[in-house]
Amino acid sequence: MSGLITMDDLSNEEILSILDDAERLLPVAKGETYLPLLQGKILGNLFFEPSTRTRMSFETAMKRLGGDVVNLGDVKTSSVVKGETLFDTIQMVDGYTDIIAMRHPRQGAAQYAQDAARVPILNGGDGAGHHPTQTMLDLFTIRQAHGTLEGLKVVLAGDLRYGRTVHSLSHALIRFGCELVFASPSLLKMPAEIVADLTNHGAKVVETEALLDSLDDADVVYMTRIQKERFADEDEYAKVAGAYKLHASNLDGAKENMIIMHPLPRVDEIHPSVDATRHARYFEQAFNGVVARMALLCRLLNIEVPANIPGGEA
Ligand code: CP
Repeated sequence: MSGLITMDDLSNEEILSILDDAERLLPVAKGETYLPLLQGKILGNLFFEPSTRTRMSFETAMKRLGGDVVNLGDVKTSSVVKGETLFDTIQMVDGYTDIIAMRHPRQGAAQYAQDAARVPILNGGDGAGHHPTQTMLDLFTIRQAHGTLEGLKVVLAGDLRYGRTVHSLSHALIRFGCELVFASPSLLKMPAEIVADLTNHGAKVVETEALLDSLDDADVVYMTRIQKERFADEDEYAKVAGAYKLHASNLDGAKENMIIMHPLPRVDEIHPSVDATRHARYFEQAFNGVVARMALLCRLLNIEVPANIPGGEA
């Protein structure tokens, strides 16, 4: 494989094998074992949109594996403000680095960058398009909790229209036979072409506005933020802001092993009372970004993760 632009770049076998690598790398991600598999390699972090988790976990992943990172930094202090095109920026960074992680506000920008680059591009989010490295850490978190990805009932809630995390994750989950419930205000429904694509692939998909009615038989509830920055019109945003507010008291009928996930950042869609419940998994999920991205960096740089790592799963 060259880069990772959408989940279609990975077969199911590759997904599972990368998740296995990630599991073995856990002690390295936690800093308990030093394993400089990526010594001498340089990651270019190109974030044209704000990020905390994706940017920092890529950087942590690289450094935990002995590699180095160069950052574009704040776009406002880069030559992008002088009018440099994405094509030209990629031409430069391609020569400085061995692999690039990129986030860009324009859908399709990651594929455009991959077409311009010789090094692999890891898509860290392209507008409302895809966020496949997030999907890998989401799948890791789900498998960690349930021991499998097969046949789970997953509720995806919130901004399904613009939410690239739920677009990528939905495509991946149906490949493992998961049943999906899309809970959103009507203004933020999953795009019809995505629903059609999922159902054409044989997926069982239910669409609803009633999130609370969907909780009791769910294995995973994946909450998302309503993204103010994606709305052209503030009045439209005001109509849906605060549509879902999950509180600990809503979880009384949930399955014991149901997990609540969120790509973060959250605004008000998960009340802090949920944090102390057995269901909350979003902070572990954010940590899993390090281990999943370590495994992806190794895979794309053709570095084999050893079968036995001190402190890791064999
Ligand atoms: N989950 C996620 O993409 O977070 P950031 O926007 O902070 O990178």
